Amino acid sequence: MTTNRQPRVSIIGAGRVGSTLAQRILERDLADVVLLDLLEGWPQGVALDLTQACAIEHHSRHILGTNDYADTADSDIVVITAGKPRLPGMDRTDLIQTNAAIVTGAAKAAIAYSPNAIIIVVTNPLDVMTYLAWKATGLPSHRVMGMAGVLDAARLETFIAAELGADVRDVQTLILGNHGQQMIPIARYCTVSGIPITELLDAEAIERLLDRARNGGAEIVNLMKVGSAFYAPASSVCKMVAAILQNSPRIVGAAAYLDGEYGVRDVFLGAPCRLGRSGIVQIQEVDLSDRDRLALQSAAAAVRENIDAALKIVEL
Ligand code: NAI
Ligand code: 2OP
Repeated sequence: MTTNRQPRVSIIGAGRVGSTLAQRILERDLADVVLLDLLEGWPQGVALDLTQACAIEHHSRHILGTNDYADTADSDIVVITAGKPRLPGMDRTDLIQTNAAIVTGAAKAAIAYSPNAIIIVVTNPLDVMTYLAWKATGLPSHRVMGMAGVLDAARLETFIAAELGADVRDVQTLILGNHGQQMIPIARYCTVSGIPITELLDAEAIERLLDRARNGGAEIVNLMKVGSAFYAPASSVCKMVAAILQNSPRIVGAAAYLDGEYGVRDVFLGAPCRLGRSGIVQIQEVDLSDRDRLALQSAAAAVRENIDAALKIVEL
């Protein structure tokens, strides 16, 4: 008898991002989902709620809520969203102390049951937590990545479309660097139907939009006050999950392990990556101005400093 194995995505952390991501994956019919959280009853309740929604949404996917890593066994992808989100006035790096142990523990426990999985990290500070997950698991670097570039690009694309009265589907952007103040959007690679925005907007408008994208997360935290964004983040992870499961050669921004690319080594940092069934298939290098290259090296140094601080909290 042959078994009809379905793709399986485990989401560690069933909070706002994790549970919204579960909904997206199910309703897009991408994979079965295992939703794991520390809180007893919570992931089981979310799973039951999403299962009942299936009677209306009519997808064919199954979801299991659990507190036991054994239930995540044999996952194709593990998404780590466990950990604290920031509150107004906090920088993402203020979360290192709390989230470092959570992410390393989650990565180790999940990979013990799914040794062939690809890991997508969401927990902040993103670039640092992705490094910890990689170190904790000992996986080849192409199988570990962080989600931020898709989200940061979506935000900038939204702002550009609104400014120009354009259709957001026509807008494409390129963002390098870290998920934070040292994010580096490259204006000349941001286009509307192939036209660089430098041809459509003046320098002041471009800088205003880039700055709003850099502060896109904080803008939402300051409105929500008790947590951070989750709808667009969940959509962003879902786009990466789809590209990997469907082995579609999409190029998206992801935090990837740089080993000489862009002149940077031994950090995870945002860069355009071609995704596929094996994870990051290729890190795409693009020509940068001297200013942008220096900005990228400075972002890498800042991330490295935070990695070193995190490695003092969790010994790996
Ligand atoms: P949330 O507070 O709604 O959910 C976090 C969940 O993690 C909670 O349900 C909590 O019980 C669970 N958790 C905590 N420790 C755990 C452990 N050891 N094992 C299993 N589960 C555990 O937070 P939210 O809004 O879902 O955000 C989650 C993380 O994702 C935060 O660090 C946030 O900053 C980050 N984030 C990152 C984004 C990005 O672009 N990379 C975008 C949005 C959020
Ligand atoms: C964001 O940018 C919280 O990092 C998250 O919304």
